[in-house]
Amino acid sequence: MNIVVGVTGGIAAYKAVHLVRLLIKAGHEVTVIPTEDALRFVGLPTWEAISRKPVTTSVHEDVAQVRHVALGQAADLVIIAPATANTIAKMTAGLADDLLGTTLLATTAPVVIAPAMHTEMWRHPATRANIATLRERGVTILGPAEGELTGGDSGPGRMLEPEEIVDAALALVGRVEDDGDDRDLDGLQVAVSAGGTREPLDPVRFLGNRSSGRQGVALALAAADRGAQVVLVAANIDAGVLADAEQHPLIRIEHAGTAAELGDAMRAAAEDAAVIVMAAAVADYRPAEVADGKLTKESGVLESIDLVQNEDIVASLAARRHPGQVVVAFAAETPQDAEEMLARARRKRERKGVDLLVVNEVGWDRGFETADNTVQVIGDGGAVLARSSGTKRAVADDIWDVIAANLG
Ligand code: CTP
Repeated sequence: MNIVVGVTGGIAAYKAVHLVRLLIKAGHEVTVIPTEDALRFVGLPTWEAISRKPVTTSVHEDVAQVRHVALGQAADLVIIAPATANTIAKMTAGLADDLLGTTLLATTAPVVIAPAMHTEMWRHPATRANIATLRERGVTILGPAEGELTGGDSGPGRMLEPEEIVDAALALVGRVEDDGDDRDLDGLQVAVSAGGTREPLDPVRFLGNRSSGRQGVALALAAADRGAQVVLVAANIDAGVLADAEQHPLIRIEHAGTAAELGDAMRAAAEDAAVIVMAAAVADYRPAEVADGKLTKESGVLESIDLVQNEDIVASLAARRHPGQVVVAFAAETPQDAEEMLARARRKRERKGVDLLVVNEVGWDRGFETADNTVQVIGDGGAVLARSSGTKRAVADDIWDVIAANLG
């Protein structure tokens, strides 16, 4: 495969050397296009030696071959790693003041970018808006990961590891080529919440629930495998459960701890989403006061905890949804019998004002922390639109079938 690797001016440029090596070892033809700034971090000779090809940043060399157009046209895949906030902004605007910019405008190949920057820059509204625009145009955003950053601070902003980028980028191209028929959600933007919120009581204790996040993560993976661009808002999910989603090129993970954080993240994700799926178990209440220090018996016996109610996130998302947006809620019920479960589910759907409500029966040994699930999907007028039983992934696919039928 002909792969263009764009390298832009961030400290993570040194990691791109390893990325290029991995691609070459896997048998691909790699053309490296650094920006001028990238060369401050890793010089031309390194890129030429590693890619075994001439490397330039400029459109004014090799003019006879119309290099800036030729490279873009010949590419089967373009990877930009690291992608700085500046490059992301230039891509969004379609600027073409160097070889990388012109190549990006000339290519019709899949474009994958691995952002790397400080957390503040990543969270800045300008960057968020740029990322949303690029996603809309079909660019795949890999990461960034959370972790320690160059300034000693930590948070989202670290470039994914070269192995992760290579695996995800090659998987994306494979998927684009192989699975054309299964991509019925191609380009659809969706926001999925998963996991369970934790409401702190003091620095070491919280009120929480038993949600493992498995059903929500399965919903995110099922949508992404069918071509959707997914924002997965993950509340306290084990790394093991999140592993596949972290690798998926079409899934971006936002972490949330409390109901308030989950609400903020979902509201942001909902702005561009055609479908909102609230699979997270959100605490209905939080402690009225959070102690600054650990509550100890020495500081006094705790006889009761005052609680205040959290906002109903899915109800507020449904109330302000834009035309055509489909909102899906979940309900975990412990009913006496099947009839009571359906009656409760129908009332809950009405109360929350959502389009679809997925109800599952839970109990001490059912629904939570397990691989399997049994659900019913309730739609307009309380109609049971589907019943599904099986692995959480199989159930997720059945739920997306119903959602897809409710779109537009
Ligand atoms: N939910 C939410 N915000 C909350 C509580 C719940 O968005 N503060 C969402 C959940 O993500 C789920 C749905 O609402 O999609 C159902 O949650 P559930 O706890 O079953 O509903 P409640 O309204 O809390 O009803 P109940 O009294 O049965 O607990």
